[in-house]
Amino acid sequence: MRTNLATSPSYFDTMYAGSADPWDLAGRWYEQRKYALTVAALPRRRYRRAFEPGCSVGVLTGLLAGRCDRVLATDRVPAAAEAAARRNRDRPHVEVRCMAVPDEWPEETFDLIVLSELLYYFDDATLQEVLKRTVDGLEPGGTLVTVHWDHPVEDHLRTGTQLAPLLTGVPELAPLGRLSDPDFVLQTFTRRLPDGSAVPAPAAAEGLV
Ligand SMILES: C[S@@+](CC[C@H](N)C(=O)[O-])C[C@H]1O[C@@H](n2cnc3c(N)ncnc32)[C@H](O)[C@@H]1O
Repeated sequence: MRTNLATSPSYFDTMYAGSADPWDLAGRWYEQRKYALTVAALPRRRYRRAFEPGCSVGVLTGLLAGRCDRVLATDRVPAAAEAAARRNRDRPHVEVRCMAVPDEWPEETFDLIVLSELLYYFDDATLQEVLKRTVDGLEPGGTLVTVHWDHPVEDHLRTGTQLAPLLTGVPELAPLGRLSDPDFVLQTFTRRLPDGSAVPAPAAAEGLV
């Protein structure tokens, strides 16, 4: 674990200069399984508009596109954003932009925000800014899903287990579910309604409980 210093932007540029898919996100069964679990954890059948910052080469983006009317996917590295756009070119409801969060953040609001393998790159202040913008950009009742590698890595400031309480501590977010896999921590939340209550969980939403 490093000291509290955010990962430098040049780190990501260097990664993509060395490989078109530096984490082999399109190839590994580990990633395919994790992406399937991520999408399966979404509490609603359909979403109107999703935001996925740090989309890399756009593999998860393509799966999200199957559940969403529109997806905005962004990455700070132009080569990654171009690869994501290429991968999803047959999905006209997917828009890919080159943006570095949190300094660049879309103006619109979303009913789904996906933070997958991203938050451990941020120092404390940047992480708090990302979480604030996430809450502000999530519509009441909207879903946040987070998923993060749970092993110590030199380039990561936190593991999934260390990120988890920081997320559950955000008062506007109502925790919905958590999957602690041996290798990652996946959490789902809903944005609380203005009166502070949470939208019903899936079974209650269909009148089962
Ligand atoms: C480990 S990859 C994760 C990709 C994808 N979210 C997934 O779960 O498979 C992290 C990605 O986040 C991007 N990234 C890092 N910091 C970012 C930032 N501040 N804004 C946007 N993208 C960022 C990197 O360029 C990289 O493509």
